[in-house]
Amino acid sequence: MSIAYLDGSYMPIEQAKISPMDRGFLFGDGIYEVVPSYAGKMVGFGPHIARMQNGLAAVGIKLDWSEDNWAELCNRLINENGAGNLGIYLHVSRGADSKRFHAFPDNIAPTVFAYAFEIAPPPVADKALAKAYKVSTTRDLRWERCHIKSTALLGNVLHFQHGYERGHDETLLFNANNELTEASACNAFIVKDGKVITPPLDNQLLPGITRHILLDVLRRDGSIAVEERSVSMDEVLNADEVWITSSSKEVAPVTQIDGKAVGNGEVGEVWLAAQTLYSAGKFDY
Ligand code: PDD
Repeated sequence: MSIAYLDGSYMPIEQAKISPMDRGFLFGDGIYEVVPSYAGKMVGFGPHIARMQNGLAAVGIKLDWSEDNWAELCNRLINENGAGNLGIYLHVSRGADSKRFHAFPDNIAPTVFAYAFEIAPPPVADKALAKAYKVSTTRDLRWERCHIKSTALLGNVLHFQHGYERGHDETLLFNANNELTEASACNAFIVKDGKVITPPLDNQLLPGITRHILLDVLRRDGSIAVEERSVSMDEVLNADEVWITSSSKEVAPVTQIDGKAVGNGEVGEVWLAAQTLYSAGKFDY
């Protein structure tokens, strides 16, 4: 049983109920985060909360919570839910209105919901133990505000389903110019001739916290070259290695794209170096 938080109270998740007039339910009008926590230690708590505050400001949801308020909530959920390997889900919707009307209502309080769910143990930097991901590709048909971590995820859900129905773990997305944006729930990287390359931050992709930590640990280490620039679909298909990153997957090696091997079809050496640095540095963020 999971203990959840809803609008000021902690309760078993089964008892958490929201109004069907909540704009999160009616319009997907909300912002969310997923923060990983291992044995009571969160990864990237500060950056996750900063991204949520940016998202709330970007969509005009006014919630007067400091980083300390969020820390108290997260730590309580960790304590209540056993402090194992947890994903902490944080969700703020614009709140429940008395009518369904598109414009932002005045004087409604945002709905704040949070719960903790079990996630896999942290990935280890070991080629023999690494899960090798198989992915699909498709044209990115989401909206032009993908930098906002909105709860309106139908576009992402449909893209994820595209890969899932083909027996794949994820779907890589390409824009109208045949450039890589990200995956349905991950950021994406390629490795070519020893260099790590990922699309630059803009409105076409989420500013992933794992992406941020990974780029930072690689740059601090300095032994692997890193570049943020547009990546064509052709470059992805001819890369030596491809990775997808997210809070629970960390740096995940992709060995097949649409049924074709990436590079030599094995988990790569540069992945091993990158996940090693990530594992060593992640709790510093
Ligand atoms: N997904 N891009 C998209 C579209 C995402 O949904 C996510 C995360 C990422 C990676 O972001 P981060 O490194 O901050 O986890 C990139 C979360 C985990 C989810 O929706 O469950």
